[in-house]
Parts: sequence; structure tokens; C-alpha cells
Amino acid sequence: MSVTNAQGQNRLDQRPEWHALGKHRDESAGAHLRELFDADPGRADRYTLRVGDLHLDYSKHLVTDETLRLLRELAVATGVFELRDAMFRGERINITEDRAVLHTALRAPQSATIQLDGYNVVPAVHAVLTKMGVFADRVRSGEWTGHTGKRIRNVVNIGIGGSDLGPAMAYEALRAYTDRGLTVRFVSNVDGADLHEAVRDLDAAETLFIIASKTFTTIETITNATSARQWLLGQLGAGDDAVAKHFVALSTNGEKVADFGIDPTNMFEFWDWVGGRYSFDSAIGLSLMLAIGPDAFRDMLAGFHLVDEHFRTAPPEQNAPLLLGLLGVWYGDFHDAQSHAVLPYSHYLSRFTAYLQQLDMESNGKSVDREGNPVSWQTGPVVWGTPGTNGQHAYYQLLHQGTKLIPADFIGFARPLPELGPLAGQHDLLMANFFAQTQALAFGKTPEEVRAEGVPEELVPHKTFRGNHPTTTILATELTPSVLGQLIALYEHKVFVQGAIWNIDSFDQWGVELGKVLAKRVEPALTEGAEVPGLDPSTRALVSTYRALRGR
Ligand code: F6P
Repeated sequence: MSVTNAQGQNRLDQRPEWHALGKHRDESAGAHLRELFDADPGRADRYTLRVGDLHLDYSKHLVTDETLRLLRELAVATGVFELRDAMFRGERINITEDRAVLHTALRAPQSATIQLDGYNVVPAVHAVLTKMGVFADRVRSGEWTGHTGKRIRNVVNIGIGGSDLGPAMAYEALRAYTDRGLTVRFVSNVDGADLHEAVRDLDAAETLFIIASKTFTTIETITNATSARQWLLGQLGAGDDAVAKHFVALSTNGEKVADFGIDPTNMFEFWDWVGGRYSFDSAIGLSLMLAIGPDAFRDMLAGFHLVDEHFRTAPPEQNAPLLLGLLGVWYGDFHDAQSHAVLPYSHYLSRFTAYLQQLDMESNGKSVDREGNPVSWQTGPVVWGTPGTNGQHAYYQLLHQGTKLIPADFIGFARPLPELGPLAGQHDLLMANFFAQTQALAFGKTPEEVRAEGVPEELVPHKTFRGNHPTTTILATELTPSVLGQLIALYEHKVFVQGAIWNIDSFDQWGVELGKVLAKRVEPALTEGAEVPGLDPSTRALVSTYRALRGR
């Protein structure tokens, strides 16, 4: 909610709750997790939450009951709960675009009522889900055939950002649940190599293209979609009438879809109240639904909804997204942490952090508040990470012994997926690493412990681990569609909480516009050598070098 008045009073960093946290940080500086655990035997139990299938341990954080109390007071003072309720009610909390933010409606049960401008959006959501389900069943059963009558065996999703990262991530995450007879690929980059590699070994007669774009104006997507259409018609030696059986669209923009030549009956709709990075459980998830089937897709939506309800109703002390959001504020604003690592111990979650990068950084990468005043506090962190065990042999050195404070989330599963067969035997080793790393990060190794191992004195500093690196551990039984939905909703709402506290609009993304505009202006300079007014000297010289190297 708006907390800044015309005089700039009540700005975040002028609030008493903010100052209280700063004072508390100064007073508690130097406390080590070793001491916090020693002083409080019940800490691990008390600092554990259970949300749906997620077991969340936050005991290895640099916090005490007092820290958490002060952070919750900040949340109350900054109106997090009012803004949350306004979001769920369908109010236009995306102020710079004057839009409601209703991705939670995408996973609401059919019986729910969510009013927007006087109409209930839930029936429309379920109508599209049903249409997607019917289509997915037809393709999966072989009833829907291509132009030549061949069964569809390949699906290529063309989209970028929110129209790519979600389905691409979830397809990897849920591979074990997919129809293995269907090849599913994702093309996002305007570099022709992406489309080339995606289609070079495919039979066009068996290939369905899904053009995913909320606006249907995104240059990368429209360029790739146009090239895909040329490739398909060229391969089939067919005319435009072949498009209908090989192209479907996922969009809010029926007019542009029709202009492109896709039959509007082959369009799966969503709405402007769904942000691109929050859209993967809308029609944008069609490629995933084709892969895992409508029932598993609905299981995933139920997982999202479970965490939505938790976020909406759980008391602050037990509210997991609130807690994760507050911890991020604690480190970013009071400990100068610049980044946040998300480290899944699951090969299937290899794209998870890349997905979260857009979710978090496009939402909270802002430097003016909701009223347009520059902020004087830190906002969204750099989010990064890859599957944990690989990271251990790459960048964990810096996590353990570097100079930076990098809070990290460790995500793991108790059970390997059944389809791993004998390879499931490796799971305990994977998870032994998972538990060992958070232990080492938190508690480190003291010089005394190092000396006790007989290490020569000159090596003691090198082999000492300071510890005190904060981590959250998220453990679930198994990576199911529902658990994936739960995890994503957890992060969506965490990002929401932080945006609310920082008083920024988490739902616009004006920062990506300038580059798009400039690219349009620069392109003629590359292709035709056209004079681009206002080109800076560095870029002008680079453009002329580029043209020379291209032989133009
Ligand atoms: O990067 C800007 C952005 O607008 C994202 O927010 C969005 O997910 C992406 O481009 C793709 O947009 P569209 O789905 O309209 O093609």
C-alpha cells in the first residue's frame, strides 16, 4: 500500500520499525550461529515450518526471536497484509500499468468467485483450462494430426521471458511425468541457431508449433514464429492452409494472432491481469500440459493454490512466503547482501533458478517507489544458482571462504523418482551433500578444530571455515507436479512480500523497454549502414567494426 505522503514522511527508511531493525542489527552483530544454537536447544524445531508438502527449516539464519518479531512489525507497518488482500481481491495494484494482479485466480477452484470489474473471472479461467485439456488429449491420443495426416510427435514452444522460462523449467522438472513419445523443445533466442537446432532433426509433418506471447508483438518471438512457418511450409511443400494444423497461439491479443495467420479457434486465451512472469500456469503452460497431460497439470495448479491459501490465511509467525521475504529484506537492507543463491539438489530442477531470475529480478529490480520517488534502500537481489552438487565443484569455494554474504536456499527431496530404477541408489549420496553443505556453511570449522587435526600452523588460516553463512533448507518428499506448484507459489509470494515492504511496483517492467527501442533503431545501421541519430561514439565505432567484419 502507499506509505509515502507528499512530504516524503513515512518513507520506509524513516519508519521507527526500520530504525529498530538497524539498531538490533548493530546490537546483534558478531553473534555466530554456533552460539545461537548452543544457547537455544529448541531452535531447530521452533524455526521449522510445514506448508503442504514443503518442510522449511530456517534455523540456520542470522536471526533470533527478536529479529523475527521486528521484521514482522515492519511487515505490518508497511501494509504487506493489506496489499496482499488487495491483490487477492483483484484490485489494480499494478499502478503504473493500471492492472489487477490476479495470477492466483489461474489456480482457484471452479467454485471460487473472484470479481474483476464486476465479473467473475474464474469461469473464464476454467473454460480455457478445459479447452487446453481437450486439445492436449487430442494431440496426445493421436486424434489431432498434422496437415498430411501424420500424428504429432514433436512440440516446439516459441516464446521468450515469461512465455518460455516457466514451461521450459517445468518440462525439465516434470520430465518423469511426461509422455516420452513426445519430443518437446523450447525456442526463445532470436539467434537463428536456437530455432535451427530445435527443428533440424524434426519431421515437419509431425511437428506442432506453439507460439506463446502475451502481447504477440515481441520481436524475438514473432521473428522466430515467422521463420518456423517458413520452415514448415518449405518442408511440407504446402501452402498457408497447412498452418492451421501446425500452429497454435497462446496470447491475450486475438487481433495480432489472426494477423499472423493463426486461426483464432486455435488460440488459447489469457488476460492482461496475468503478468508475463506469473503466466506459466495460464494458457502459457500448454506445452507442459501436452507433455504431462491435463490431470497432472491440474495437480500442479492445486499445489499452487495450496500455497496461495497458506499465504492468504496463515498467521504471520507461520507464514512461509512472508518469512522468506522478510529474511531477504534483513540480509539485503541490513547486512548489505547483494545476491541470493537458489541451489536445488535435483537434476530435474536444473532450470528452476533461471526461472526465478525473471520472477524476482524483473519484479523487484526497481529503484523508484510506487509514487515515483527514488528509493534510498536496497531492493531486489541478484538471484543466481545451479544444481547444488555441480556448484560445489565450481563456486561453493566463494560461499564458504569468500568475503561476501550470500544467503542461499537449498531445495531437496527425500525420495528419488521411481523411474530412476537402480540409479535411485545414488540419492542418499546426493542428499548427504545437501545436508553437509548447509552444516558446513552455518557452523564452519574453527582454527582449534583445524589444529586438532594436526594441520601445520601456516595452513590453519587457509583451512579454517568462518561459517555463519545463512541458508534456508526446503525439503519435500518427492518432486511431483503439486510440489512444483507449491514451490513456485512460495517464491511468487516471497517476491510479493519484498516488493510490498520496499514500496515498489513489482508487477511492471519498464526497465526492459529502452533496450528494445534502441535495438529497433540500431538494426538498420547494421544491415544498411543507415545513419542512426543519437548513436554514442563507442556504439558507432562498434557498429562500423561489426559491418567491416561482416564484409559489408
Ligand atoms: O522482457 C519483457 C517481457 O515483457 C517479459 O515481461 C515477458 O515475459 C516477455 O517480455 C515476453 O513477452 P510476451 O509474452 O508478450 O511475448
